[in-house]
Amino acid sequence: MVRFGVIGAGRIAKTFSEAMKVTKGYLYAIASRDILKARKYQKAYGYEKVYDNYEEMLKDDNIDCVYIATPHGLHFEHMMLALKYHKNILCEKSFTLNAKQALTVFNKAKENHLFIMEAMWTRFLPTIKEVKHRIDQSIIGEITMLEAHFGFSMKFNRKDRLVNPNLGGGALLDLGVYPIHFAHLFLGSPLSFETKSHLDPIGIDLSEQYTFQYHNAIAILSSSLEKQLDKVALIKGTKGYIKIYDFWKAEKAQIFDLDHHLIEEISYPHLKNGFEYEINEVIRCLEENLTESPLMPYQTTLFVMKQMDELRHVWGLKYPGED
Ligand SMILES: NC(=O)c1ccc[n+]([C@@H]2O[C@H](COP(=O)([O-])OP(=O)(O)OC[C@H]3O[C@@H](n4cnc5c(N)ncnc54)[C@H](OP(=O)(O)O)[C@@H]3O)[C@@H](O)[C@H]2O)c1
Repeated sequence: MVRFGVIGAGRIAKTFSEAMKVTKGYLYAIASRDILKARKYQKAYGYEKVYDNYEEMLKDDNIDCVYIATPHGLHFEHMMLALKYHKNILCEKSFTLNAKQALTVFNKAKENHLFIMEAMWTRFLPTIKEVKHRIDQSIIGEITMLEAHFGFSMKFNRKDRLVNPNLGGGALLDLGVYPIHFAHLFLGSPLSFETKSHLDPIGIDLSEQYTFQYHNAIAILSSSLEKQLDKVALIKGTKGYIKIYDFWKAEKAQIFDLDHHLIEEISYPHLKNGFEYEINEVIRCLEENLTESPLMPYQTTLFVMKQMDELRHVWGLKYPGED
């Protein structure tokens, strides 16, 4: 049995804890800076142990894998600490603030033969895997265009991590990471890109558009913390097209021919909330003694982090402490 220890009792830690119920994983421990919060999670989800200090939990030898559920700006620090205590890691997206941090973490994990993976749950959803499989079988021919947007009109609480530059706030690391991973899954690395952004003077990006060019295809992508964007991703090919509804948490996709006739529907409702698939992948990798998932390898996370660095370079956006 794989025993998980969770760092940070926030919103996403709840989703993770809920999903664990339909996996073979075990909610062994949770650490929060506030012991009362940790106890609340213990009561709700049955954690065996609680800690009021992240490092104290990492010293616990019973933990097989740490789930890092803190804001992006802290992932690097928390992953390096977990590696110091020889822990395997599943770390929330965005993996780090930039590619340099991601490379440092991967090198350290490799040196110690530890498993590490970015929790980009979309990649493990059966609907997405089936769409990829059908595209590889050429159901829509060669891809010519992909469109994916992720944006909400959010009411800002200035204390929220989403708008705090010190925690890696902004639309790109929180939401943009999804369209970028999505485009990479189907089209790989672009040859070139163009981008525009709307920055807030506090030092975060509120909205952005980015267009990636490939040999014979284009990806039109955007993310926003201030605008509701279309949730349906579209992949067009020479023989048809695919619509993927709520693509980042996809449970349904439809395949059409060029005359707009529906030719196939793919539907895999979540067993719990969709996180169960990435958790199962972590468990499988640990059971097979793998240090990275073939579905979410280091190189993919590094590509995405580098791409986000390049976008920010064009916008002139740096996080506090970046050189
Ligand atoms: N996969 C997804 O669908 C998804 C969805 C939402 C978020 N996420 C990712 O999950 C991570 C956490 O997001 P969240 O929405 O759960 O955030 P959140 O509700 O703000 O929780 C983050 C937790 O991090 C801990 N923390 C430690 N130092 C902190 C600091 N200086 N400021 C704020 N929190 C601090 C806190 O836990 P304690 O107080 O208990 O120590 C806090 O509850 C982010 O990287 C985000 O991108 C993923």
